[in-house]
Amino acid sequence: MRIGVLTGGGDCPGLNAAIRAVVRKATVSYGDEVVGFRDGWLGVVRDEASPLDVERCRGILPRGGTILGTSRANPFKLDRGVDDALATVDRHGLDALVAIGGEGTLSVARRMAELGVPVVGIPKTIDNDVNGTDVTIGFNTAVQIAVDAIDRLHTTAESHDRVMVCEVMGRHVGWIAIHAGLAAGAAVVLVPEQPFDLAATSDWLKRRHAKGRYASIVVVAEGAKPVEGTLDLPAPEVDRYDHERLGGIGSVVAATIERQTGLESRVTILGHVQRGGSPSAFDRVLATRLGLAAVDSAHDKAFGTMVGIHGTEIGRVPLAEAVGELKRVPASLLEDLAHAFTG
Ligand code: F6P
Repeated sequence: MRIGVLTGGGDCPGLNAAIRAVVRKATVSYGDEVVGFRDGWLGVVRDEASPLDVERCRGILPRGGTILGTSRANPFKLDRGVDDALATVDRHGLDALVAIGGEGTLSVARRMAELGVPVVGIPKTIDNDVNGTDVTIGFNTAVQIAVDAIDRLHTTAESHDRVMVCEVMGRHVGWIAIHAGLAAGAAVVLVPEQPFDLAATSDWLKRRHAKGRYASIVVVAEGAKPVEGTLDLPAPEVDRYDHERLGGIGSVVAATIERQTGLESRVTILGHVQRGGSPSAFDRVLATRLGLAAVDSAHDKAFGTMVGIHGTEIGRVPLAEAVGELKRVPASLLEDLAHAFTG
């Protein structure tokens, strides 16, 4: 078989582990040839590809980022993008194309599959918002980075009797915020799934500090939204892919809490630190298992599917089930977990 592989969307720790697994399984176990496309779907449109083998992938397992580069380019939004991409697939005689990505990249994969491209998907994103898998590559590492940071904020918050606001990533969903907040003992977590009212948060913080408690951590997801009319946020800029540039809500939240409570407040915005560096052991294992499984999917001609993890088992789901709707934190889970943020 000739197999192509690409990484698209925002990078995350674990992408290289997935590429390495695809290459090892394909070349060593099946005797396939593998080519890697540069910068996600853009490399397929522009036919920018280079051969991948075990040697090329040596040493990349613990490395963050992606040796293939990435972009948010969407062939369906580029002039002649789809025709050029289809021509590249033909020119390389690809029997399968493994697309490693989040909602954007996998939505393109789904549409390409409908046009006859033999695509197999692997889910990655620190946001963990892809359906059809319990967890995506990169999420575990991002949560650990956030927890390490919040643990550090805790000790300085205690020393100064302050409220520390920590802004984490999470464009549409609060998976990182809720997991990091739980694991690091935050007092409040604000997520995109549930509009927040800072007046209520401030009241609760005032009561908490009046009891003699002196360190409060507020975790806010970058995409959290206030209840309409309660807080003015600056309109975000958009990047060249029409993607809103988030980041900064934490500063508004900290300033407002300080004003409403009289408690000294500070903000830390973790930003891309959460996407950089070495993947956790969990993400290395997950990425490796998904990479191996994707090659089996290709050999089983299970095109138009995505591999995912369900419990401890790796399985396949149609791409159509994985994309279209995001995997949000369910209201019932938020309600259950709310009990951990009392006291
Ligand atoms: O990949 C998901 C994500 O990290 C979001 O959490 C965040 O909003 C976005 O990417 C940032 O994108 P960029 O790297 O293009 O600024």
